[in-house]
Amino acid sequence: MNSATTETFAFTAENLEKAKAILAKYPEGREASATMPLLTLAQRQNANWLPRAAMDVVADMVGLPPIRVYEVATFYTMYNLKPVGKHHVQVCTNISCLIKGSDDVFKVCKKKLGVGNGETTPDGLFTLQEVECLGACVNAPMMQIGDDFYEDLTPETTEKVLDALAKGETPKAGPQSGRKGCEPAGGLTTLKEEA
Ligand code: FES
Repeated sequence: MNSATTETFAFTAENLEKAKAILAKYPEGREASATMPLLTLAQRQNANWLPRAAMDVVADMVGLPPIRVYEVATFYTMYNLKPVGKHHVQVCTNISCLIKGSDDVFKVCKKKLGVGNGETTPDGLFTLQEVECLGACVNAPMMQIGDDFYEDLTPETTEKVLDALAKGETPKAGPQSGRKGCEPAGGLTTLKEEA
């Protein structure tokens, strides 16, 4: 549900309860520590992006000047400051992913979706974004779409994931290479024998 315009934002009754529960996790005088989870809650309520009005509501709740909250929201790529498509495709191009071929993954995304970095397809289905390390380096190269990580990507598997999403399917998240989690890509190298 998109409950905000760029001028107004209010948490729904349900999210207001969640916001209060988040704030209650921090000691009195340390409400500022709730800034990030509250921004995340606001973004989830608002079709995955944060209008300025939402940041102002969060600033008010945590007792910070709005500029301090804008600083947080503009620093982290996980906060979107403008509307994004239904599928937010975030391709990591940081060092491990770069070494393992993220340039090719990103190229496929650009070609397949017909958009550049930070752009949204005309049908509003996909937004493409290049991001810094998402903490899944051992399964590089990878991309995050919504809350899911797609890992061990090749140009071919990247294309398959995007095709599936375009068809309204939900591709299986995780390593696309067949390996389980982050086990050694070439099979076990130690502990091969039963004790
Ligand atoms: S460098 Fe891509 S996940 Fe860490």
